[in-house]
Amino acid sequence: SHPNAAGVTARAHSNIALIKYWGKRDARLNLPAVGSISITLDALYTDTRVAFLPGLEADRVDIGGRRADTTRFSRFLDLVRAEAGIDTRARIESWNNFPTGAGLASSASGFAALAVAATRAAGLTLEPRALSVLARQGSGSAARSIFGGFVEMRRGARDDGLDAAASPLLDAADWPLTVIVAITEHGAKALDSTAGMTGSADTSDFYQAWVDHAEPDLAAMREAIAARDFQAMGELAEHSCLKLHGLMLSTRPGQIYWNAATVAAMHAVRALRADGVPVYFTIDAGPQVKALCPPAHAETVAAALERVPGVLETRRSALGPDARCHD
Ligand code: PMV
Repeated sequence: SHPNAAGVTARAHSNIALIKYWGKRDARLNLPAVGSISITLDALYTDTRVAFLPGLEADRVDIGGRRADTTRFSRFLDLVRAEAGIDTRARIESWNNFPTGAGLASSASGFAALAVAATRAAGLTLEPRALSVLARQGSGSAARSIFGGFVEMRRGARDDGLDAAASPLLDAADWPLTVIVAITEHGAKALDSTAGMTGSADTSDFYQAWVDHAEPDLAAMREAIAARDFQAMGELAEHSCLKLHGLMLSTRPGQIYWNAATVAAMHAVRALRADGVPVYFTIDAGPQVKALCPPAHAETVAAALERVPGVLETRRSALGPDARCHD
């Protein structure tokens, strides 16, 4: 293969899980203990440029114009180099159009964009499924950001991880949905999700129950999405979110990702629902609240969340497209 010396830029969108994944069955290959289902977000994305440069002594990574620690990225690039049969070091430049490392899934969009840009820059042509397997090794949720719309990540059964990949369930255009992200904290979160679940998820007494109930949750969500049943989808998503946080709260040490505004925003969503507004919340390993609603209710939901004390700002997103190269 011939590395592209001029470099390649790719864009990948962030995603949030409707049915969450937490826990790993293999830390080295980053194999998830359970499957997951997500939606890709149009408004939150990462642009990443990769160039393999002969003569470069070490990989260099800049995120948002700032030099970053290369360890996690070099390990990822080594997978690409091995596949391409090259030894060249690379320059990575990456920009998020949203706060990095604050529970807005920058590792999802970041490693998906890196998988697309780095393989292409190394002269490889990979199918989306192979890109998803590769992206998973950077961050579990990144496997899902290879695809747009509604996406399912399979847990897989093989030891080599070749069947632990995401695939699309429904295109973004097939079921328009709005996500209002209520940002309650701008700083980076205290504990990143990879560190949070590695070697600690299974210290919870609830862990086995979490793993045992994953398949029925996934099956019910697949059905709700196929039927475009907003209420069923929302109830399942809110349940999966609260169950995930129950698990994280019950690990040793317990992990509390919420702040006061996170909790207030959850109550605000339920108050809207009591008033007849179709809206449900979900929250990942961070303090931000993502509210899901049909586009016609976006204005009402955003206004209500902006009135919640401690909500600093809201971002609105539709469902987004596949990860892809761009100029
Ligand atoms: O992307 P990771 O492997 O760091 O983990 C993401 C974990 C959650 O966001 C909490 C759940 C999920 O399925 O996205």
